[in-house]
Amino acid sequence: MLEVRDLVKEFGGLRAVDGVSFSLRPNTITGLIGPNGAGKTSLFDTIAGVHRPTSGAISFLGTPIGGLPPHRIFGAGLVRTFQIPRPFGGMTVLENCMMVPAGQAGERFWNNWVARARVRAEERAWREKARQVLAFLSLEPLAGEYAKNLSGGQQKLLELARVLMAEPRLILLDEPGAGVNPTLLATIVDRLQALHAQGMSFLIIEHNMDLIMSLCDPVLVMAQGRLILEAPPAQVRSDPRVLDAYLGGVPA
Ligand SMILES: Nc1ncnc2c1ncn2[C@@H]1O[C@H](COP(=O)(O)OP(=O)(O)OP(=O)(O)O)[C@@H](O)[C@H]1O
Ligand SMILES: [Mg+2]
Repeated sequence: MLEVRDLVKEFGGLRAVDGVSFSLRPNTITGLIGPNGAGKTSLFDTIAGVHRPTSGAISFLGTPIGGLPPHRIFGAGLVRTFQIPRPFGGMTVLENCMMVPAGQAGERFWNNWVARARVRAEERAWREKARQVLAFLSLEPLAGEYAKNLSGGQQKLLELARVLMAEPRLILLDEPGAGVNPTLLATIVDRLQALHAQGMSFLIIEHNMDLIMSLCDPVLVMAQGRLILEAPPAQVRSDPRVLDAYLGGVPA
């Protein structure tokens, strides 16, 4: 469903993504690992349209998306979460979720005058959907809480909730397990598996190897901007190139 070909992203003289190619099959959970600074987040940002590719091609569901603005890629069903969650702190958890769907009638000024009833009906529907998503993630007790009062782990879940509001086809998760306690991590893993069972696809950056090993197949390994390996998790665990990359060795 996602095809990345010879993708390069440079920042000044630095090649953060250095000729990366891979493709994701539908209904898979793919892991993306690699040492700090390997270029994982840069790869995500370039796929999601935050950065323009320096060169290379990206297509999603058969349509080229390289260089499109983020909202177009989002609208096509490819959404990402952030390594550091970015909720609207002064809004409640429920409001944060309701912010997400693009093109709600209420956002367009004139609709407030000419179609109040329709706006109210749409808002009710989105509120109901937000409640369902929050219940699915066991976040419903926090629906009325301000997002800024959530713990780091709860904010990770809220990120996932907001992403689900967009009804995506492919979700890019940047370190969903970072700073999350083991109980909440188990909840996140369980919910991702449930979504996968419903047909959702994921590409997951994560340093937590337990999460990668229990959820992801295949696993992509990046080092110094390059993709050095794509393999099943068990093979990744025992491949000397991966160990080398983490110990700072130069990839072959
Ligand atoms: N916006 C930017 N401008 C300039 N350089 C950047 C930018 N974003 C990332 N870089 C550089 O690109 C390289 C790859 O960074 P990136 O954040 O993609 O790594 P990462 O694999 O996500 O690391 P981590 O596991 O620590 O999150 C780093 O050298 C980083 O300093
Ligand atoms: Mg990163």
